[in-house]
Amino acid sequence: MSFDRVAPFYRRLEKLVFGQQLQAARMAFVRQLAPRRRALVVGDGDGRFLGELCHARPDLPIECLDASAQMLALARDRVGDRYVQYLHADIRDADFPPRRYDLLVTHFFLDCFAEKTLREVVAKLSAAATDDAVWLIADFHDPPRGWRGFWGRFLIAMMYRFFRLAARIEARRLITYAPLLEAQGFRLTSEITLAGGLLRSQSWRRGASGEVEV
Ligand SMILES: C[S@@+](CC[C@H](N)C(=O)[O-])C[C@H]1O[C@@H](n2cnc3c(N)ncnc32)[C@H](O)[C@@H]1O
Repeated sequence: MSFDRVAPFYRRLEKLVFGQQLQAARMAFVRQLAPRRRALVVGDGDGRFLGELCHARPDLPIECLDASAQMLALARDRVGDRYVQYLHADIRDADFPPRRYDLLVTHFFLDCFAEKTLREVVAKLSAAATDDAVWLIADFHDPPRGWRGFWGRFLIAMMYRFFRLAARIEARRLITYAPLLEAQGFRLTSEITLAGGLLRSQSWRRGASGEVEV
């Protein structure tokens, strides 16, 4: 798997197909975030989310892990390294100290993995998360059956074809990650949908229920 070849035109391709909607999904909950102590942003790509997170939370220490050197270089150019530590690694090989991060962000990342790996990735990130961690996830969502979901299903099928060829991702279809997060003690606290339901942005939280924090 490598997004190096895709990195130079990833942003233009995204804008061509989705306009501003992916960025809106990435940004959905950032401004409502309660203060956080340390963030891990995984697979952020070219740094458009990272830049906005730094802007919204200038004092938050952030670690940003990506397997693509090209993507990391774009992110570093965009954001700089004053508050961000860049980690060039494949999540499957990465080791994190236990309970280090109280903010995890995986936007359009979990959909790169087949079910077995996804299970391992979620378990690994959960082990690195504190007991009160927030996990922000923007991702695609399977459209409804029938003709109303035809265009969305077509688009998702084309995207998987493209990224399997160009970036060699292992996934062939969207996997529902919600049960995996729930099994790790996270619960969904907020959600918005965009693009007629094709995109979802979610905030998950571990720990005590009944709090209003995102
Ligand atoms: C589909 S792109 C999403 C980029 C960005 N987060 C966004 O919102 O568009 C997936 C990103 O995850 C990274 N990635 C994919 N598989 C990875 C892995 N196994 N370990 C670390 N990073 C990975 C890619 O290099 C790329 O930057």
